[in-house]
Amino acid sequence: MEELARALANSKNAIAFTGAGISADSGVPTFRGPGGLWERYKPEELATPEAFSRNPVLVWRWYRWRQELIYSAGPNPAHYALAELERLGVIKAVVTQNVDGLHQKAGSRRVVELHGNIWHLRCVDCGNEIVVEKPVAEIPPRCPRCGGLMRPGVVWFGEPLHRASWEEAVALASSADFVLVVGTSGAVYPAALLPTIAKRGGALVAVVDPGKTAFDDIADFKIRGRAAEVLPELARKVKDVLRSDI
Ligand code: OAD
Repeated sequence: MEELARALANSKNAIAFTGAGISADSGVPTFRGPGGLWERYKPEELATPEAFSRNPVLVWRWYRWRQELIYSAGPNPAHYALAELERLGVIKAVVTQNVDGLHQKAGSRRVVELHGNIWHLRCVDCGNEIVVEKPVAEIPPRCPRCGGLMRPGVVWFGEPLHRASWEEAVALASSADFVLVVGTSGAVYPAALLPTIAKRGGALVAVVDPGKTAFDDIADFKIRGRAAEVLPELARKVKDVLRSDI
């Protein structure tokens, strides 16, 4: 941990790369592993464009349930620690696969959302986009402009990532000298390419996760632990290093 804190504090261009595990301590279930969402639900029945055209009400029930969970949860100490590291100038951006918006709620400013945002809605007919702050009341929600069907503004299986977000993430990973990977299994592509892109460019890779991940082989540091415990301690230690270096 000391070594990790020193390396992070001495980096010039660090980024964080996060997944569902960082929100697990907020009470939002992850996708894979014991208790993961995909153990109870089939992705192809819920998170695909085909599923939505087949049964928008079913898909929306699931997304509203997740909106409700996220709404009542709020950020945890891991989200706040990353926001603090950004304020200190240590982390330049957070690239996340999460759609919950909890990084922004915790105060992170530069957040690249690879898989969209559950609070963004998009009309499938006219393309109108709106942002909601609370779980949707009506299911399925209708477009305030044209009355068409609104879909969640998230990326589903079989859909490409938003080009601008992906390009920004690749640029950040390519120029990073340190990647702090938190709470992601590394099972979903192309997002899972980012730590390897950074590593090839010479970055150090640190993984914070209680379980095994696809990034363990390229990791220079691996801290086995819960994000909400490890990240606040890491932020404290980084601050100590910065103070002692003045
Ligand atoms: P996964 O569910 O695949 O992985 C969650 C990771 O978090 C695992 O490695 C767990 O060990 C770890 N974890 C669990 N509890 C933790 C804790 N308290 N602190 C830190 N880590 C913890 O989630 P993702 O890798 O984010 O995509 O999944 C990637 C994508 O798959 C998601 O963005 C979503 C999903 O299908 C789409 O919806 C397109």
